[in-house]
Amino acid sequence: MKQMVRIGIIGSGGIAAAHAKAYLEMDDVQIVGVADIIPGKAEEFIKRVEIKDAQAFDDHKKLLDLDLDGVSICTPNVAHHSTSIDSLLADKHVLVEKPLAVTLDQGVEMVQVAKKQNKMLSVGFQPRYDPNMQAVKDIVQSGRLGNVYYVQTGGGRRRGMPTGTFINKELAGAGAMADIGCYSLDLALNVLGYPKPLTVSAYTSNHFGTNPNYHPEADKFEVEDFGIAMVRLEGGKVLNFKISWAMHMDSLGSTIFLGTDAGLKLTPAGSGPWSGVWDGGIGSISLYHDINNHHVDTDIPVQKHNIDIFAEKVRDFVVAIKEEKPAPIPGEQIVINQAIIDGILRSSEKGKEVDIHIPEILSGRSNVNKNKVANE
Ligand SMILES: NC(=O)c1ccc[n+]([C@@H]2O[C@H](COP(=O)([O-])OP(=O)(O)OC[C@H]3O[C@@H](n4cnc5c(N)ncnc54)[C@H](O)[C@@H]3O)[C@@H](O)[C@H]2O)c1
Repeated sequence: MKQMVRIGIIGSGGIAAAHAKAYLEMDDVQIVGVADIIPGKAEEFIKRVEIKDAQAFDDHKKLLDLDLDGVSICTPNVAHHSTSIDSLLADKHVLVEKPLAVTLDQGVEMVQVAKKQNKMLSVGFQPRYDPNMQAVKDIVQSGRLGNVYYVQTGGGRRRGMPTGTFINKELAGAGAMADIGCYSLDLALNVLGYPKPLTVSAYTSNHFGTNPNYHPEADKFEVEDFGIAMVRLEGGKVLNFKISWAMHMDSLGSTIFLGTDAGLKLTPAGSGPWSGVWDGGIGSISLYHDINNHHVDTDIPVQKHNIDIFAEKVRDFVVAIKEEKPAPIPGEQIVINQAIIDGILRSSEKGKEVDIHIPEILSGRSNVNKNKVANE
């Protein structure tokens, strides 16, 4: 008989359904329980998503009393910290939705607790499972570009501002950066091998979100809808990061990697007002290089695929539990992503460049077999 992996889900809103669907497609996984703070919501979710024999709770701590191997955290950003820490302390592996947390301190504490408990803390960046993202990483890591000294990433929606918890500072932590910017940061930093950020000079604004002509909840809009930052990275590299939920422009430009031997340009796939960001995949990959002193532009074919990258992320978490592997997308790496967002907010508030310090993180499970993490 197959060893069943016993899973719990905390938060039963929109994205929890995608987690549940992915788990339900695996014949070696059982969703044992679901928790949501809104009374009755977990029960309704279990019925709607058709999860057999799962228990419903209105307090995640009661769910954690069950015999579980792993937990998907699908709450608004603000509760990622408390629910992840409670899960780790209850000896469960954690797959937490992006962004890691609301603050850098919270993210660091989550990683420290995971290490201390020797449990996995994996973060939900499904674009890593897109074969085209992997191809880009392979090209850069192969050394084909030479020394990569400049990266420009980000992206922009012409109009695509969410509502509800996503625009509340306390619940979301940040706006466009925490919602979609963290994907572009993960794209660029993962390709480079997650170098440490040193300083950041940033600007953020919310001219669209706070204008009732553009946002139905303008009076409640507390976060940024636009952000731009210059981040100095270790190794003499610089990252130019730009993100927008709304703007009077079609695009904030491509993602580019400039190296001493070649350059690489990526455009995002998709079209329409909510597109222009990296969770929708890569539209084109072009290599700019010289052959015999002639400029050559080579289009690298973008692989058409039917991979359900979201399901892959959930499956990889389950595989890591079963095979006792390290976190596929380790929290200790994503702390760097969170540190940049934290630095952008501080720099923007102060109106000047600020240093980025990432506290030391204790060694533990995620350090084991480090070269096996997703897309490495
Ligand atoms: N990876 C992706 O593609 C993707 C897409 C959308 C959202 N997300 C992330 O998923 C998270 C949830 O987003 P959503 O759109 O599903 O939000 P949502 O508001 O639809 O659902 C969140 C649910 O969590 C519940 N909740 C809040 N606090 C809780 C707590 N302490 N314990 C238990 N339940 C609690 C809420 O009642 C709600 O039902 C966010 O962090 C978001 O950034 C990821």
